[in-house]
Amino acid sequence: MRKRTRYCQVNPGQPAPQVISLAARILRRGGLVAFPTETVYGLGANALAEKAVAKIFAAKGRPPDNPLIVHVGYRRQVAELVSEIPPQAELLMRRFWPGPLTLVLPSNGRVAAAVTAGLDTVAVRMPRHPVALALLRVARLPVAAPSANLSGRPSPTLGRHVLQDLRGRVDLILEAGSTEVGVESTVLDLTVRPPMVLRPGGVTVEELEETIGEVRLDPTVREAPGADLLPRSPGMKYRHYAPRAPLYIVQGEPEAVRQRLAALAGEAVAKGRRVAILASDEAAAFYRERVKPHLVECLGPRSDPAQAAARLYASLKSCDRHGADVIFAEAWPEEGLGLALMNRLRKAAGYHVIAV
Ligand code: TXA
Ligand code: MG
Repeated sequence: MRKRTRYCQVNPGQPAPQVISLAARILRRGGLVAFPTETVYGLGANALAEKAVAKIFAAKGRPPDNPLIVHVGYRRQVAELVSEIPPQAELLMRRFWPGPLTLVLPSNGRVAAAVTAGLDTVAVRMPRHPVALALLRVARLPVAAPSANLSGRPSPTLGRHVLQDLRGRVDLILEAGSTEVGVESTVLDLTVRPPMVLRPGGVTVEELEETIGEVRLDPTVREAPGADLLPRSPGMKYRHYAPRAPLYIVQGEPEAVRQRLAALAGEAVAKGRRVAILASDEAAAFYRERVKPHLVECLGPRSDPAQAAARLYASLKSCDRHGADVIFAEAWPEEGLGLALMNRLRKAAGYHVIAV
C-alpha cells in the first residue's frame, strides 16, 4: 500500500527536538522511519511489535528468513532482550559502543518473532550517529532496522538514496547527509567459540582481536557461498548490494591489474558499451586516458581502504545513474576496512573475480 512519505532535513550533529519527537511518535505508533546511522541509513520499526516489523519486510521486499538487527539507545536495554550477556560482550560494548559493531546473543524471546526469523539468537547494536541515538533515546524502544534499500540493491549512504528506493513505502525519512563509515556494522556471533565474524564491517577484525583475542571468520566472508558452504548469517546468502550493470573485479598485483582492467574495459568501449570503472586514485588518470570510458569513479588512495569503503555504495549508484552497461573494479587489499570493502564488492559482483 502506498503511503505519504515525509522527507525532513536534520542537522547531523544537533537534530531539532521537534523532528526527533515526530519520528519517535511514528515509531511508537507502529510506523516506519528511515534514519541515518554512522554506517548506512536504516529502516526502523518497533522491534517489539509484530505488525510494525512486518512492514519492514513488505517495504523492502525482504525474504522472511533474513533476521534484523535491533538498535538500542541504552546499554541496559540489551538485558531486556537477551538471556545472557557473556563477559566478552561486556568488553566489546564498553570499547565499541556506540559504534558499528553488532553482537549476536541468545534471545530471551521478547522481540517480535519476525525480527529473529525464528532463530534463538538476536542481533543488537548501539549506533553512534547523533540522530540515531537521539531517536532511539526519545522513542525509548528497541528498533529493528535493516539498511533502508530495496532488497538486493546497494545500501543507502544518503537520505536521497532512501527516497529513490522507498518513496511511498515509509512514513518518514530523516536526511542528514552522507554517512561516515559507509559500509554496514560488523556482525559478531558470541554464541559460538571462538566468536565468529558473520559479516565484516565498520569495526575491524584486528580491533576485535585486540579486545577479546581470537575470532574466526565465517568462510563466506571471503568466498562465494555454495551448496557446501552456507553462511551462518542467513542474510548473507542472497545477492546483495548489486548495481544494475554486471560488475567484474580484477584482482592481483597493482600494475598487472591496471593493464588487464584497461584491456578488458577497452574492448568493451570498442564495442560501443557504456563502461564504468571503480578505480583507486593512483590509477584513475591512466584509465581515463587509455580507455576513455564513460565514467571513472575514484574511491581514494590504495593506502586508505576506509575511504574506499565509505564511497563504495554511492559509486555503485552513480554507475546506475550514468546508465553503465558494464562495470570494472580494482580489487583492494583486505586489511582493516578493506575486508568489508572487498566482501561487499564481491557480493555486488555476484563473485565475478578475474585473477591476474
Ligand atoms: O550497519 C548496520 O548494521 C545497518 C544499520 C542500519 O544499522 N543495518 C544492517 O541491517 O545492515 P541488514 O538487515 O541490512 O543486515 C543485517 C545482517 C544480515 O546479514 C542478517 O542476516 C544478520 O545481520 N543477522 C541479523 N540477526 C541475526 C542473527 N540473530 N543471527 C545471525 N545473523 C543475523
Ligand atoms: Mg542490508
